[in-house]
Amino acid sequence: MRLTLMFPMFLLAACGTGSTTDTSGGSDTSGGDTSGGDTGPNGYGDGACVSGEKWTGGNRESEDMNPGQACIECHSSSDEAPSFAIAGTVYTNYDEPKNCNGLDGATVRVTDASGNTYEDKTNSVGNFYISSRDARIKTPYTAEVEFADGTVATMAGEQTSGDCNSCHTQDGAEGAPGRISNFAGQ
Ligand code: HEC
Ligand code: HEC
Repeated sequence: MRLTLMFPMFLLAACGTGSTTDTSGGSDTSGGDTSGGDTGPNGYGDGACVSGEKWTGGNRESEDMNPGQACIECHSSSDEAPSFAIAGTVYTNYDEPKNCNGLDGATVRVTDASGNTYEDKTNSVGNFYISSRDARIKTPYTAEVEFADGTVATMAGEQTSGDCNSCHTQDGAEGAPGRISNFAGQ
């Protein structure tokens, strides 16, 4: 019984329609907590592609390809595709769909376990990548993204995979809050 009560509460928090007239709920207080600390990865928006533009070129050779998809996962299974130490896409919101073009001109900075820092600026579709030839990332690494207005989003935890979009999916995988984005700074 206790467990079945938890579930609807979580849904309410996530969609934010908020009528906490749940009645059944006893005096559980949770009602007024709009701070949304734990609303879950999909509590942020409507899943729109903010730029309104999408990649439609499939795997055609281009640095603008497949924004939002797990670059390294695919590249490592192809002989033609370059080998990346770090790659991904930066967006304006957490919940943007794959192939949606992201945010130009953000600087992605990775500091590895030896203290070496590597960075790349996102291109016109928000993609960034650092070749395995240019970086030997000693793991675990930390990462931050500096946006054009000077705000910085920092990943609190350390990671070992350089395939940023594998966790920073539309829904957010492995605990990530969705896409790498400047949403928190807005
Ligand atoms: C589903 C597979 C797949 C995904 C996902 C993918 N790529 Fe690729 N990528 C390829 C293939 C295949 C090639 C080689 C194409 C060729 O040589 O014809 C390639 C080539 C490239 C190239 C070389 C282009 C050139 O002009 O030489 C870049 C840069 C690149 N990809 C960046 C990315 C980035 C950044 C991402 C993630 C946002 C990504 N790719 C996601 C399959 C993929
Ligand atoms: C294995 C999963 C995983 C990978 C790979 C990963 N991240 Fe994260 N990222 C997370 C999780 C989980 C969080 C939220 C907790 C935290 O900040 O550590 C996060 C948070 C972030 C944030 C802060 C988000 C916000 O809006 O406050 C940024 C920025 C970020 N990651 C950038 C990156 C970049 C850049 C890469 C690739 C170089 C990367 N991440 C790779 C899991 C991952």
